[in-house]
Amino acid sequence: MGFSPLSLSQSISFILFLFHFHSTISSSHFCALDQSLSLLQFKESFSIRSSASDHCQHPKTESWKEGTDCCSWDGVTCDMKTGHVTGLDLACSMLYGTLHPNSTLFSLHHLQQLDLSDNDFNSSHISSRFGQFSNLTLLNLNYSVFAGQVPSEISHLSKLVSLDLSDNNLQLSLEPISFDKLLVRNLTKLRELDLSSVNMSLVVPDSLMNLSSSLSSLKLNYCRLKGKLPSSMGKFKHLQYLDLGGNDFTGSIPYDFEQLTELVSLGLSSNNDLSLEPISFHKIVQNLTKLRELDLGYVNMSLVAPNSLTNLSSSLSSLSLWGCGLQGKFPGNIFLLPKLESLDMSYNNRLTGSFPSSNLSNVLSSLDLSNTRISVYLEKDLISNLKSLEYMYLRNSNIIRSDLAPLGNLTQLILLDFSSNNFIGEIPSSLGNLVQLRYLKLDSNKFMGQIPDSLGSLLNLRTLSLYGNLFNGTIPSFLFALPSLQYLDLHNNNLIGNISELQHDSLVYLDLSNNHLHGPIPSSIFKQENLEVLILASNSKLTGEISSSICKLRFLRLLDLSNNSLSGSTPLCLGNFSNMLSVLHLGMNNLQGTIPSIFSKNNSLEYLNLNGNELEGKIPPSIISCTLLEVLDLGNNKIEDTFPYFLETLPKLQILVLKSNKLQGFVKGPTTYNSFSKLQIFDISDNNFSESLPTGYFNSLEAMMTLDQNMIYMGAINYSSYVYSIEMIWKGVKTKFMKIQSTIRVLDLSNNNFTGEIPKVIEKLKALQQLNLSHNSLTGHIQSSLGNLTNLESLDLSSNLLTGRIPMQLEGLTFLAILNLSHNQLEGLTFLAILNLSHTKWRAIQHL
Ligand SMILES: *[C@@H]1O[C@H](CO)[C@@H](O)[C@H](O)[C@H]1NC(C)=O
Ligand SMILES: *[C@@H]1O[C@H](CO)[C@@H](O)[C@H](O)[C@H]1NC(C)=O
Ligand SMILES: *[C@@H]1O[C@H](CO)[C@@H](O)[C@H](O)[C@H]1NC(C)=O
Ligand SMILES: *[C@@H]1O[C@H](CO)[C@@H](O)[C@H](O)[C@H]1NC(C)=O
Ligand SMILES: *[C@@H]1O[C@H](CO)[C@@H](O)[C@H](O)[C@H]1NC(C)=O
Ligand SMILES: *[C@@H]1O[C@H](CO)[C@@H](O)[C@H](O)[C@H]1NC(C)=O
Ligand SMILES: *[C@@H]1O[C@H](CO)[C@@H](O)[C@H](O)[C@H]1NC(C)=O
Ligand SMILES: *[C@@H]1O[C@H](CO)[C@@H](O)[C@H](O)[C@H]1NC(C)=O
Ligand SMILES: *[C@@H]1O[C@H](CO)[C@@H](O)[C@H](O)[C@H]1NC(C)=O
Ligand SMILES: *[C@@H]1O[C@H](CO)[C@@H](O)[C@H](O)[C@H]1NC(C)=O
Ligand SMILES: *[C@@H]1O[C@H](CO)[C@@H](O)[C@H](O)[C@H]1NC(C)=O
Ligand SMILES: *[C@@H]1O[C@H](CO)[C@@H](O)[C@H](O)[C@H]1NC(C)=O
Repeated sequence: MGFSPLSLSQSISFILFLFHFHSTISSSHFCALDQSLSLLQFKESFSIRSSASDHCQHPKTESWKEGTDCCSWDGVTCDMKTGHVTGLDLACSMLYGTLHPNSTLFSLHHLQQLDLSDNDFNSSHISSRFGQFSNLTLLNLNYSVFAGQVPSEISHLSKLVSLDLSDNNLQLSLEPISFDKLLVRNLTKLRELDLSSVNMSLVVPDSLMNLSSSLSSLKLNYCRLKGKLPSSMGKFKHLQYLDLGGNDFTGSIPYDFEQLTELVSLGLSSNNDLSLEPISFHKIVQNLTKLRELDLGYVNMSLVAPNSLTNLSSSLSSLSLWGCGLQGKFPGNIFLLPKLESLDMSYNNRLTGSFPSSNLSNVLSSLDLSNTRISVYLEKDLISNLKSLEYMYLRNSNIIRSDLAPLGNLTQLILLDFSSNNFIGEIPSSLGNLVQLRYLKLDSNKFMGQIPDSLGSLLNLRTLSLYGNLFNGTIPSFLFALPSLQYLDLHNNNLIGNISELQHDSLVYLDLSNNHLHGPIPSSIFKQENLEVLILASNSKLTGEISSSICKLRFLRLLDLSNNSLSGSTPLCLGNFSNMLSVLHLGMNNLQGTIPSIFSKNNSLEYLNLNGNELEGKIPPSIISCTLLEVLDLGNNKIEDTFPYFLETLPKLQILVLKSNKLQGFVKGPTTYNSFSKLQIFDISDNNFSESLPTGYFNSLEAMMTLDQNMIYMGAINYSSYVYSIEMIWKGVKTKFMKIQSTIRVLDLSNNNFTGEIPKVIEKLKALQQLNLSHNSLTGHIQSSLGNLTNLESLDLSSNLLTGRIPMQLEGLTFLAILNLSHNQLEGLTFLAILNLSHTKWRAIQHL
């Protein structure tokens, strides 16, 4: 055998071996050199990056320095006799990068405990080499951005006591075969198992029964498990923590949960269709005497008598029964449970009765009665009994007595949510006493008067939501001095004043729309580096220009400055300053100049509305980089261009409005496959288009051929609370839609110079609700095929050169409310002007 060239790593390990040998003899309590090198190389293979939530402050690997004893390094534990690294705890260490299978981590063979949780391994796969840590008793990879299959080699870790692969955001998945191998055959010592948010959609629930019966903690939250719960869970007699929430479990909760007598915490919330029968409940209640936390949110308990809740374990400290369909009177004596700290009964809208004002548990710190009809008498007695309360959720509930002044005595409050009630009057100044308050939500009431100065003492406030009230006066400047404020929503009030003065620098969310504010956009806004949402719409008197400094807001996701009096040119950087921007609405202003012409690749724009300005020039072809665009509204400007065929390739475009511009030429698409196939509103009215109607498109407008049964409001996916709005001619009337139903289908080609006949293929567009071809130069007969458009509510063919008889088939248009055929040369029916008809009247006229 000749010499084969040693690879670098082989020779290093040979040398290391010698070193190792040496070091274990000479100074046995120091770290073995090979271990030290492995750790340093491991450290080098990652960068340090603060996480988005930046709760991790301390990169442990910073203390790892060459030439020092690795056993003294942060997060490293050694066997003091051998110098082997036996424990590595790098939880929350800001590591970022890929964990490759060749990582030197896997040279640390002696590891017994390994915690890499809360780092960012950039969707690394969990290497099968993890299976080589044969002495591992603890493995924690939670919340660390691993992806792919959990390797079946994990099953070699037969000494594991604790395994946590949770919270990798459904990117990890576990095959049934691995599950069986992993958890059944070898891992007999397992006590704690957390696979929350690992995709286990193919694992059948019954195979859970194969888990070791000595488990003390089993957490399988949001694992996509589906089907009936195993019927003999009772075998896990040692379980203290069981969480199966957020799966698709169905059926009744089996009786034999009663045998889980050691349970301290039970979570079954947010399953698809799980129910709890009174008998099971009774048994569970009787036997689970150690229970401290019970979360049955969304489990159907409609047959369980609310009063029986009182029989729950007297150790209970947290009870969550939101959306359980409970009906009857609120069980006032629930506070006989002496340790109850947290009670959530929200979304039980058949729960009535009243909330007791005395004999409450004096440790109650969180109360949620939102969306119930339980009467809460906010009186002296109650207030003095709620002194420990930190979280008070009473959204859309039944609070009786509108004098809120005594609330100022609940000085422990961190969150107060009284939104969507019927409060009238002013906010009491006593709320200024609640100095711990971080969230104050009083929106959707009838609060009036000034926003009180006393709120200026709430220095911990992060969220202030006062929208949908009758507040008047100016926006007090102290709001902007609140150091922790991130979320400020004052929309839909009667606030006045010049906003240019506003000064703040930590806002993430600002909505001041629908007030009576005036003045220019405050320049301080552009310093809010973290701003994600800026809505200043509908103040009508906001003036001045939009500074290009707005493009410094790199995290902006939503910008709505519509319905104001902003002037000047549109900053050209708006198309490419942020890849996070989903909504850009500058409609209804006096903006001039051209449309931003550079839209960056991979942008997130879903809604682009520049309607109602004075924009000139052409439609920039780079709009096709907006591959997520659903709404493009450039109507009511001065755009001079031909038909923008390139828009056909926008795969998600649902609404295209180009009306009232100076567009001209013919419209003879499509030029590509699948063009405009998602389009639901196509409005190119009031331009100078000529020649024949765009017959080619009629063959590809697939969305207009299909009825949408699912009525939802159209809105941004990346910013779910933003619903789209649009203005258009609806049934002959200019209408502003604040919300757009997903079922809408409109084709408006009116006020152009289209010539020739109405083609027969138009009959394909069966889902159309509104068809407007008026004010063109169309000739020929009205096709009887129009009678196939049975969903039409409005049909306008007026002011053309149509001849012949009105076809009888139009009688089939049973939803038609508006029919306008006037100003044509139609036979015998010249008296027909605009008809606004119910179906019966239309019939009557047909039979004249
Ligand atoms: C993270 O993953 C992305 C996508 O696979 C890759 O482009 C990038 O280089 C990775 N970053 C690191 C630091 O490994
Ligand atoms: C480990 O593997 C990765 C990916 O295959 C490679 O980029 C890297 O250079 C390797 N590192 C070492 C030390 O061999
Ligand atoms: C694993 O543990 C056993 C028993 O404590 C020990 O004899 C063995 O050397 C360990 N193996 C490694 C690789 O550390
Ligand atoms: C990850 O696990 C550690 C240790 O068990 C735990 O303290 C931490 O809360 C977990 N982190 C997350 C995000 O679940
Ligand atoms: C069980 O573990 C041993 C070593 O710990 C390993 O040899 C064996 O392959 C494992 N069995 C399974 C089914 O993974
Ligand atoms: C979960 O896994 C199933 C089966 O492999 C797959 O069809 C599904 O898309 C996965 N779900 C997620 C959210 O990744
Ligand atoms: C339980 O494990 C055995 C093998 O140990 C296997 O044959 C059986 O299918 C498993 N049961 C379930 C329900 O997966
Ligand atoms: C309660 O638990 C015991 C074991 O501790 C068990 O024998 C019994 O069946 C359980 N059920 C009831 C209703 O007591
Ligand atoms: C609450 O505080 C007010 C003063 O703001 C006081 O008059 C009232 O007695 C207090 N009520 C209770 C229940 O402590
Ligand atoms: C604000 O509203 C209050 C109560 O409705 C009213 O008394 C007051 O005059 C109003 N102030 C202004 C400036 O409109
Ligand atoms: C409309 O088109 C016809 C035929 O192309 C042309 O003769 C007529 O002048 C055009 N009318 C207008 C108003 O542009
Ligand atoms: C239109 O209606 C006629 C008669 O009702 C029918 O024969 C024809 O197939 C329909 N056309 C389409 C495209 O459905």
